[in-house]
Amino acid sequence: MRTNPHQERTRVAVVGAGPAGLLLSHLLSLSGIDSVVIDVRTRADIEATMRAGILEQGTIDLMTGTGVGARLLSEGRRHEGVAIRSRGESRRIDFPSLTGRAVHLYPQHEVLKDLVAARLDDGADLRFGVGDVSVHGVTTDTPVVRFTEADGTRVELACAVVAGCDGSQGVCRTAVPRQARTDYFHAYPHGWFGILTEAPPSSDELVYAHSDRGFALISSRTPTVQRMYFQCDPAEDAAAWSDERIWAELRARVNGNGFELQEGPVIQRGVIPMRSYVVDPMSHGRLYLAGDAAHTVPPTGAKGLNLAVADVAVLCQALERFFHQGSSELLDSYGRTASDRVWRAQHFSWWMTSMLHTAPDADAFGRRRQLGEIDQLTGSRAGSAYLAEAYTGWPFALTNPDSVISDTVRRSAERAP
Ligand code: PHB
Repeated sequence: MRTNPHQERTRVAVVGAGPAGLLLSHLLSLSGIDSVVIDVRTRADIEATMRAGILEQGTIDLMTGTGVGARLLSEGRRHEGVAIRSRGESRRIDFPSLTGRAVHLYPQHEVLKDLVAARLDDGADLRFGVGDVSVHGVTTDTPVVRFTEADGTRVELACAVVAGCDGSQGVCRTAVPRQARTDYFHAYPHGWFGILTEAPPSSDELVYAHSDRGFALISSRTPTVQRMYFQCDPAEDAAAWSDERIWAELRARVNGNGFELQEGPVIQRGVIPMRSYVVDPMSHGRLYLAGDAAHTVPPTGAKGLNLAVADVAVLCQALERFFHQGSSELLDSYGRTASDRVWRAQHFSWWMTSMLHTAPDADAFGRRRQLGEIDQLTGSRAGSAYLAEAYTGWPFALTNPDSVISDTVRRSAERAP
């Protein structure tokens, strides 16, 4: 016999325990706003998912300013520039001198571990491994999120607001009816072949390489594990590549003029698709989408995690205004405010991708033009400053001066010259 669902209540039902959901729940708790976070994945799965690792200055400032940045500062690595490599020559773009800002290399799953630990320390209500998630009544004042707990208990979670933070494959994006939304989608004709290798670092800073054979990126994880990527066909079968073939391809795209990759055994490999997506609007009734649930960027600009953080900074301020002052004004403008940054990031990610990748249909003119663009970027202060500004990240929007994060956001914005 089926028992009735367990009735529960919270102010903000957060669907998804990724960077957006966990950080939102953390920031709301600092302002005394209760939430319940649910995720279909287990805690172990969430903490093991390998994603990119570049944190913008604003992300670093927000995490350290709200008490979840200690390990990021001690174990992450501050990067003050990147190398753009073309025709066998690296040219460095220096962030602090161009923007007063820098980035940190600190993998996303480490951010997630820190956020989960901080939330559990605070006694937060996090439920992993749930199933059958569905969202109801978002155009009423009393939305409900239904799900089944890992032990089989059915739950009806009543709330005032649903935060849809469950990524591109989650249920929240599609809870915005098709006739109420516009989907902006762009598929790139490339994939990224990504590897982890047991080897020492090849470079102190990231290397974004353009070559006749296509793009490559040299990044790092730890002193003994390195992350590298090279442009491939999105349908490429990663399992069909031997270690030797992978290294030959990377060498051909990156080595030269004294630069040599440090090679080692390939311990993980996979092909990542490249696409851009934005949903407009980013909300429907009392459902607010944040992070990958609302938008996807290709990995070239390292913007995915940072956009999730920026969305949540805007949403947190709007929810504080709503719950503490009874005004929905900032919730009503949430999508417009957040999407300003989303579209800048879409442009930046698309631009980095198109400048550095070889298009399958590129003609001789297109290839030569790309070199002109790279020369203009690396050879001019104005060109370099655009990349440095976008890469280290624009200041977060400050919409609510009474917010718990307003001082942090203000100080972070003042950092830029
Ligand atoms: C990574 O370290 O995985 C990484 C870094 C920068 C990117 C993309 C991925 O643009």
